[in-house]
Formats: sequence, C-alpha cells, structure tokens
Amino acid sequence: GGDSLALTPPMGWNSWNKFGCNVSETMIKDMVDAMVESGMRDAGYEYVVIDDCWQVGRDSLGNIIPDPERFPSGMSALADYIHAQGLKFGIYSCAGSKTCQDRPGSRGYQFQDARTYASWGVDYLKYDWCYDEGQDAHAAYKTMSDALKECGRPIVFSICEWGESEPWKWGKEVGHLWRTTADIRDCYQCTFDWGGLGVLDIIDKQVDLWKYAGPGHWNDPDMLEVGNGGMTVDEYKTHFSMWAMMAAPLMAGNDIREMDASTKEILTNNDVIGVNQDVKGEQARKFMDMGEYEIWAKPLSNGEVAVCFLNRSNFEWNLDYDWSKQTMYFVKDVSIRKNVYKVYDLWEHKEVGKTNEKLKKTIPPHGVLMVRLHL
Ligand code: DGJ
Repeated sequence: GGDSLALTPPMGWNSWNKFGCNVSETMIKDMVDAMVESGMRDAGYEYVVIDDCWQVGRDSLGNIIPDPERFPSGMSALADYIHAQGLKFGIYSCAGSKTCQDRPGSRGYQFQDARTYASWGVDYLKYDWCYDEGQDAHAAYKTMSDALKECGRPIVFSICEWGESEPWKWGKEVGHLWRTTADIRDCYQCTFDWGGLGVLDIIDKQVDLWKYAGPGHWNDPDMLEVGNGGMTVDEYKTHFSMWAMMAAPLMAGNDIREMDASTKEILTNNDVIGVNQDVKGEQARKFMDMGEYEIWAKPLSNGEVAVCFLNRSNFEWNLDYDWSKQTMYFVKDVSIRKNVYKVYDLWEHKEVGKTNEKLKKTIPPHGVLMVRLHL
C-alpha cells in the first residue's frame, strides 16, 4: 500500500488453479489473445500472472533462469506481447529458498530478482511462503517489498503467506494484497486434510477482516475457480458475487480459451464487477446471520450500497424481505427510513422493486440474490 498502484482490487488471470506447473509462453500468449477476444480485458481483467514453475535455476551470477524449453523467447518478449495487448505482466516467486514446487525461491536474492523483474517489464509479483525456514513473515515480506520499491518499476506486491501470521495487521505497509487463508479448492463446501478450502469455508474466514481492507490494500481470499467445473452455475455465481462483495482481487483461474456461455456471463458481469471495483473500497460486512441464510452489505460511493442475500442451504429460500427492518447501521450514507431506494438486481440486470415495498424472490439452493440500492 501507500502508493496508487491498487486503488481498487486488482483484476486479472493466473495460471495456477487450472494449469498448475503446466505453464509455457505459447499457452500464456493464447490466453492473452483469448482475454482480448472474449471481452475479459474490456471487463477489467488486467494482470496476466504466471504462477509457480516458470523458473529452473540460477546462473553463475545468481540470476534467475526461466525454463528455456517452456519460455524459449524469454520473459521480456512475453512481457512485450502482454503489454502490446494493453494488459500487464505478473510473475511468481517465494520468500523461501525454494518455491512450493521446488523451484528456486528468492531468499537471499530479493534485490537481484526485483531488478531482473523490472528489466523484463514485470508489473505484479505474487510472493509465496514455502520453505520459509523459520523466517519472520513480516520481515521476509518487507525485504522483498523494499527490493520492489528500489527496482525502478512500479510493481504490485501480492503477499501469499496464507494468513498464518495475520498479514492483515502488517500487510498494508508492505504490499497491496495478502492471502487470508489456505488454498481455494474448486468446490462449494469441502475441506481437505491438508487445508484446502471450499467457497463457504473461505467466506466464513473473511467475516472479521473487513476493517483491514481499503484502497491500495486488500484482503485476498484466493483466486477464482469460476469455470473450472467443480461447482454448479449457481455456486459459481455465489463465489463470484461474494468475492465482489468482499472487495477481493478478481483473478480468474480458468481456461479463457474455452469458456462456456455461463462462465463468460459470470466473469464479465459488469454490474457485479462494478460493486467490486467501487472506488470507496470497502469490504462487505455480514449484518444478518440466520444460520443457513446470511445478508451482507457493501457500502458504495455516492451513497449507494450493495446487498447480497446468501442461501447456504440445499433448499430454495423464499425471501420476503422488509427493508424497513434492516439493520445496516454501519452504512452511514444510506437511510432506508429517510429515502426510498430503487432495488436493482445485479444478475437479472433490472429493477426489482423499491425499499418501501417487500422484496420477494426465490433464491436457489447455494445461490445468491445480489442487489444495489440507489436513488
Ligand atoms: C501455494 C499458493 O497458495 C498457491 O496459490 C500457488 O501459488 C502454489 N503455492 C504454487 O506452488
């Protein structure tokens, strides 16, 4: 934080969720083309980030070496390709001596690596936390943060230490976003022995973190799984809606080259993206918890507010909502008692009523109703 690099949550695409270690310049270039053709770029997705496994070693001077078989043209050429399409280039390293996939990490080479990234034209660095070797996380991330500040190029810094040392308490001074949990899995409700989390479990871990987010510094509940096949369309809408509500970075993690219509509709929903990118930069708060049903509100600029009704249950929620009983006490600019607001449905893209009448809707199992109140 502290600069103007990420005044709204970063948006882009990252290779990890779909491709893992199977990264190459051909695939990345194809993805760039697909981002342009599909409308993803125009919807706001900006950073194209190569995650783990692009690097194979260091030369005798300690310079990091990209895989010569998978990236034969080199990283500068790839950066040029990405920049020529109006997009930005992101790369990955690790605060430990090795990455999570046993590639060389940046420990001991932070300043050298930052200069290398700058010389290639890198705009974004995701920095992981494997092989941490007992380092203090805040100090380790601060070292790379200092290196990036001195490398001569503005670079967004994505802290990926999984929330272990409460990075929301120190991340603002060090970087622009910080992971808050273990890795996301492509499922609505699932927990793996090793700590991967489904969408609902991740949402539950964000509830108290709203106060740490703001323009330039964001909680990162991990990248999107929309379009990767493990959830239903309604579940992916919930995933995307709640990430937008939580002012989360929107990093698509699917194969943009072969998106089906519903995936594209979800990822390029301008109304939902508008809530995520609102310049006020506030993260949503849960203000009603009825167990299986929750209601979240995200204050927006111009005295507006986004409200998301989340149906966690396996059954339909027959909503019959009386706005006059609302308790969004924290949304200072919105007074339901003083004003009558229009209620705009962000998935149906139309007005569905006013706040002086009840909101009646059927919300599908695992689904959401996401609306915007405006005058
Ligand atoms: C752990 C991170 O949390 C993931 O997002 C991904 O970057 C992998 N490491 C890569 O090894």
